[in-house]
Amino acid sequence: MDRNLALEFVRVTEAAAIASARWMGRGKKDDADQAAVDAMRKALDSIDVRGTVVIGEGERDEAPMLYIGEEFGRGGPDSPKVDVALDPLEGTNLVAHGHSGALSVIAVAEKGHFLHAPDTYMDKIAVGPECLGKINYEMSTEEILKTVAQCKNKSLNEVTVIILERDRHMDLIQRVRALGCRIHLIGDGDVSAAIATCNPETGIDLLLGSGGAPEGVISAAALRTLGGDFMGKLKWRSEEEKQRASKMGVTEFDRTYNMNELATGNVMFCATGVTDGSWLKGVHFIGGGCTTHSIVMRSQTGTIREIHANHSFDKKSL
Ligand code: FBP
Repeated sequence: MDRNLALEFVRVTEAAAIASARWMGRGKKDDADQAAVDAMRKALDSIDVRGTVVIGEGERDEAPMLYIGEEFGRGGPDSPKVDVALDPLEGTNLVAHGHSGALSVIAVAEKGHFLHAPDTYMDKIAVGPECLGKINYEMSTEEILKTVAQCKNKSLNEVTVIILERDRHMDLIQRVRALGCRIHLIGDGDVSAAIATCNPETGIDLLLGSGGAPEGVISAAALRTLGGDFMGKLKWRSEEEKQRASKMGVTEFDRTYNMNELATGNVMFCATGVTDGSWLKGVHFIGGGCTTHSIVMRSQTGTIREIHANHSFDKKSL
């Protein structure tokens, strides 16, 4: 994939972030999401690719735009064919309530390189580059925490675990507390949480617990480009979910996936902050424009670019 494409795709997440940030704190998560979807959809059509959404807003009958299978781009027969896994607004509630950690994200790969994840849950483990290859699903929570502490040269009570605050995680939280580790509970946004494990400045060492499976594929793409490690296991709530998944190509229901199986080959990843988070700043409106903060990464080179942009509404309507 052409490396210049990465900079084209960051315009897409910037546009979605700016549109949804206008809804911050207004208590309307669906409007915030719709604004992000509209802006992202429009921006995608300006890119010179023949693209297909493989992780998107839902199946065709559920989502009018950015549905799974939707094609986009202004590319002709010679333009690259790409698949994208996207979330125009990751953390709709966070924006609606003005909380931190909402992002707009897109991961791009060559055709056929993302797991077509159904809309179910996924058990997730994410760690930074120091722990790459050191953690696996056979380990107990206690073994995982001790290994992370060792890899990062920390004592257990200095290790910080980020977990979605959900009733289903009460046992997990108790186990982490019993070992004396620190916990950062979040209301939403486990893609942002997974990414945070790869930046020592965030103070986050490990993500544990279950969240959306589509967000798991996006997180895997991000951690591949960041040099961290990610693994996930699909969790089923009904037989109907399994049937939908098998139509999408999932054949092994109890399988654990590593990040290279969730997102294979050369992957690009772009994210723009919507509200301020532990790594990315959100959209800040300044007179006549706004500022955005994004990361752009490619697995092929491992280059991580942070882009601080000033947008002038006089010159470009956003
Ligand atoms: P939305 O942006 O779709 O609101 O998702 C937010 C999120 O917190 C994800 O980050 C996470 O993977 C998922 O929801 C968790 O789902 P649930 O709220 O059902 O526990």
